[in-house]
Amino acid sequence: MNTSDFTTYAPPYDLLKNKTILVTGAGSGIGRAVAYIYAKYGAQILLLGRTEVKLEAVYDEITHAGFETPIILPLDLAIPDETPYLLLKKTLEKSFSCIDGLVLNAGVLGKLSPLDNISLDSWNTVFQVNTHSVFLLTKACLPLLRKSQNASIIFTSSSVGRRARAYWGAYAASKFAIEGMMQLLADELENTSNVRVNSLNPKATNTAMRRDAYPGEDPSNNPSPEEIMGAYLYLMGEASTGITGESFDAR
Ligand SMILES: NC(=O)c1ccc[n+]([C@@H]2O[C@H](COP(=O)([O-])OP(=O)(O)OC[C@H]3O[C@@H](n4cnc5c(N)ncnc54)[C@H](OP(=O)(O)O)[C@@H]3O)[C@@H](O)[C@H]2O)c1
Repeated sequence: MNTSDFTTYAPPYDLLKNKTILVTGAGSGIGRAVAYIYAKYGAQILLLGRTEVKLEAVYDEITHAGFETPIILPLDLAIPDETPYLLLKKTLEKSFSCIDGLVLNAGVLGKLSPLDNISLDSWNTVFQVNTHSVFLLTKACLPLLRKSQNASIIFTSSSVGRRARAYWGAYAASKFAIEGMMQLLADELENTSNVRVNSLNPKATNTAMRRDAYPGEDPSNNPSPEEIMGAYLYLMGEASTGITGESFDAR
């Protein structure tokens, strides 16, 4: 399917019925919209994020709409330690026989500035959230993803993760690493599992991160997260079976 078709993509209402899908950064921005639309199409959503009150609000929205009851998984992805991920892995393996989808969406912008003005602390935090947590969560979920009959992992990229621009610092470098991780994992899993792995660049979308990066821009010039959900549905649904190792744009 072409990028231009994503905006008009209209999958069947039960596209994700009986699927269990973990979404990171599910409490706000694009992740919140992904969690809601996947629940609307029938999935049970594991809402992972750092701010419990935001996750609870999404939980309420989903349950009030009458969709499958989600599960809240609070986790601060900025913690540079594998222990919470190993605990999460244990919890998931106790509760589920498989996971069918993983949307690695949470991210931080960090400081936009010349490279030589970025502190090591700031660089490390951006890499911890945008890249290292993606590695650790993928590692934690892979055994259950492999047990699915048809699983999809969506890595979240960015335009500056494919062609860097001045002052995008650790954010751009961390998204290049995401593209690399996606390609190597797709290559490892192709032919040995039912897990497909692709990256998705949402492109300019009206969220807190975009408003932070472009304070002078009129936010209403960019689509809302809800308007870019076609690509997320396509990559999670059966229509993308067999497509792996590809870099997509949401529009
Ligand atoms: N919006 C765009 O124009 C655009 C363009 C290209 C790529 N992207 C990518 O799309 C993804 C979503 O971005 P967005 O625009 O929706 O940004 P956003 O509104 O800032 O949302 C980021 C999400 O990540 C979560 N998060 C941040 N730090 C975390 C941590 N330490 N632990 C757990 N969760 C954490 C946030 O949770 P809290 O709400 O609790 O802070 C929030 O749910 C990101 O990977 C971003 O790089 C966005």
